[in-house]
Amino acid sequence: MADIGDVMDLVPSWKRQVGVSAAVLPGERVDAVAVGEVLGVPVAAPVADQDWLGLSSAGLRAAGMDGSVGRTLACPVPGGGLAVLYGVGAVEDADARALRDAGAALAAAAKDYSRIALVVPEGTTGADAAETAAQALVEGVVLARYGYPVLKRPTADPELESLVLLAAEARLPAVAQGAERGRVLARTQSLARDLATCPPSIMTAEVLARIAPRLAADCGFTAEVFDRAQLRQLGCGGLLGVNAGSTDEPRMIKVSYAPSDRQAASLALVGKGIMYDSGGISLKPSDAVHATMKNDMSGAGAILAAMTALAALACPTAVTGWLMCTDNMPSGSATKLGDVLTIRGGSTVEVLNTDAEGRLVMADALVLATEEPCDAIVDIATLTGASMRALGAEIAGLFGNDQPLVDQVLAAARHTDEPCWQLPLARRYRAELDSDVADIKNMGGPNGGAIHAALFLEEFVGERPWAHIDIAGPAQNDSPKSWRPRGCTGFGARLLTRLALDFSKPKPKP
Ligand code: BES
Ligand code: ZN
Ligand code: ZN
Repeated sequence: MADIGDVMDLVPSWKRQVGVSAAVLPGERVDAVAVGEVLGVPVAAPVADQDWLGLSSAGLRAAGMDGSVGRTLACPVPGGGLAVLYGVGAVEDADARALRDAGAALAAAAKDYSRIALVVPEGTTGADAAETAAQALVEGVVLARYGYPVLKRPTADPELESLVLLAAEARLPAVAQGAERGRVLARTQSLARDLATCPPSIMTAEVLARIAPRLAADCGFTAEVFDRAQLRQLGCGGLLGVNAGSTDEPRMIKVSYAPSDRQAASLALVGKGIMYDSGGISLKPSDAVHATMKNDMSGAGAILAAMTALAALACPTAVTGWLMCTDNMPSGSATKLGDVLTIRGGSTVEVLNTDAEGRLVMADALVLATEEPCDAIVDIATLTGASMRALGAEIAGLFGNDQPLVDQVLAAARHTDEPCWQLPLARRYRAELDSDVADIKNMGGPNGGAIHAALFLEEFVGERPWAHIDIAGPAQNDSPKSWRPRGCTGFGARLLTRLALDFSKPKPKP
């Protein structure tokens, strides 16, 4: 691979910061148009007259603007300038999810502009309504305008440069606070998208391990990198076994964030970092799914991205992340079917399909996570096609050995609109993983593949409260929708951040 220059050039969302700010909404709305190149104006359902534009509700409805989320209408403003009316739905339904979608629709309607101002809708209810609304709008606008320009010729398409949120003076502090949270979280998810989108021969384990300390130095966390020799010393036979066919070295990246409170609850995160999954000796067919396999490090990417938000959002929880990074390649030195690998801690695994590699690298990290004090372990991985088949491409599979912890993940997922659906950790299928020659084998029978993978992982977490998020489906998006453009989604980055922000120790079982 050619010289890639500064590795941070591979993650442009990090450098190219959108300027997000809040300002007082002028009394005369027409004056607000001058704030950006385009002004977004919320329209709730049922639509009311927009007197300042000289438009009646009947006229707006006739033009297709019924106030529902996703609808937009561009209107020239008397005296020059452009307003884009954007639907926010019924006021009582205007929650974060609706406003994120509304912001995304506005961003699409204003795609030819690089400076957007928008009016934050009034009337949303709840204690932190203005803050939540501002955060969701910023996330929606910024994430909808995401692109990865690194490997393209410069285009004339304008990039989003600035976003100004306008609100009445009394709401301004809350709006400013929400806008800042939205900026941080949109950047977090965009970074996760960059990491997954970058081609696999560029974004190698070694390159990711150079990016992590740079982000850490910027964002108030630490990053420790373990190379092949150190992984041998640690006995990480899963990660080394998957790496055996590769010309690129593996890396384990341990990231840690500590709040000032030493008594804080603590969370361990484990991420699958398969920089490219060819299937190894059990080579994948050259189909459309294979062509997405640069994204097989999306779990690790989501964790690294989430780490960048914790100090900025004053996260009260201590978080340690274990990113298990290698590609999975076939070659004369690759792990063979029937080989037995020894995971950290001594458990042996018979490899019967080298394409079930994620669980092998995760096993080492789960053992390492249990060796340190932490209140819970959450892992995230593009682990099984079976999870995608069961739940489709928008919903992640969720498993766990501790229902209160699973419930915390579900709550975080609801807040960020990164949906997870709990699947059963059905121990009745555990016998399908029994091996004749090792403690466990790396695949079960033909059905229930997502459950087999979860049961395999459970083997390595001991008694620790643990949840497992299988993002094989939602890591990739083939049909763009709202704030989710086509390609690698960065799913999980905001979810994990929210989980860490709201985390409480699961109560010990009676
Ligand atoms: N990375 C894949 C899972 C995957 C498949 C992610 C499709 C996204 C889209 C994983 O390593 C894999 O290949 N799993 C196998 C396991 C099987 C061999 C037991 C699978 O799901 O087919
Ligand atoms: Zn695989
Ligand atoms: Zn994989």
